[in-house]
Amino acid sequence: MRAAGRVAAATLAHVGERLRGGVTTADIDRWVREDTARRSARPSQLGYKGFPAAVCTSRNHVVCHGIPTARERVEPGDIINVDVTSEFQGFHGDTSATFLIGPVDARARALVDATRRCLAAGIAEVRAGARLGDIGAAIEALARAEGFGVVRDFGGHGIGRRMHMPPHVSHTGARGRGLRLRAGMAITIEPMLTIGWPALELLADGWTVVTADGSPSAQFEHTVLVTETGCEILTAQDAPLTLARP
Ligand code: MF3
Ligand code: CO
Ligand code: CO
Repeated sequence: MRAAGRVAAATLAHVGERLRGGVTTADIDRWVREDTARRSARPSQLGYKGFPAAVCTSRNHVVCHGIPTARERVEPGDIINVDVTSEFQGFHGDTSATFLIGPVDARARALVDATRRCLAAGIAEVRAGARLGDIGAAIEALARAEGFGVVRDFGGHGIGRRMHMPPHVSHTGARGRGLRLRAGMAITIEPMLTIGWPALELLADGWTVVTADGSPSAQFEHTVLVTETGCEILTAQDAPLTLARP
């Protein structure tokens, strides 16, 4: 799991180094395929329940599961989440970040920043004996304090020999409720925040999830290993991913 997490984190960083205005989301998909192969890994998302790409690229009002295409160009002012899941020697690592492209308006910047801090707040709750509700409650409280919505229809998940495993990890909830974490469990935490009301729609492609009101959404994700005293972030970056290029 540690090795798989490092692969996914490295491939996400590889994308971050190349992302800039003018590239297409198909370029991102190609970078992920190339970099994953170079690391002797496999993109877990490719073919998953028929998903047609190696990576999810979710731009502006796309909340998650955006499909890369050659027609979609990333432009200055955009925010875009890139979600990389890698299988290495039978185990999966899952991580995503939302990147700012060039000058992004202040409200969208605040959204991205709050989403990053919500992920950190969720991770800070993780330790053996804590409950899933503690994670959701921490994220929900911070998002609410910052004036953003939290997406309820999608959550984190257990991860290991499969990309998606039990339990479901909600990004809302009540402290002291839900499954008790035990050392050795691996889960993802991947809050999605919205500027507007967090109601969603599914596009006709059967994958792309968008905000119903068209307002921007941001997401960050890590895979974490529960330990007695806290957790290990298996998809940690050496340097934070906060690129802003024109
Ligand atoms: N990486 C996504 C997650 O965090 C999974 C997307 S499933 C896909 O759970 F099929 F859309 F790729
Ligand atoms: Co995930
Ligand atoms: Co993911």
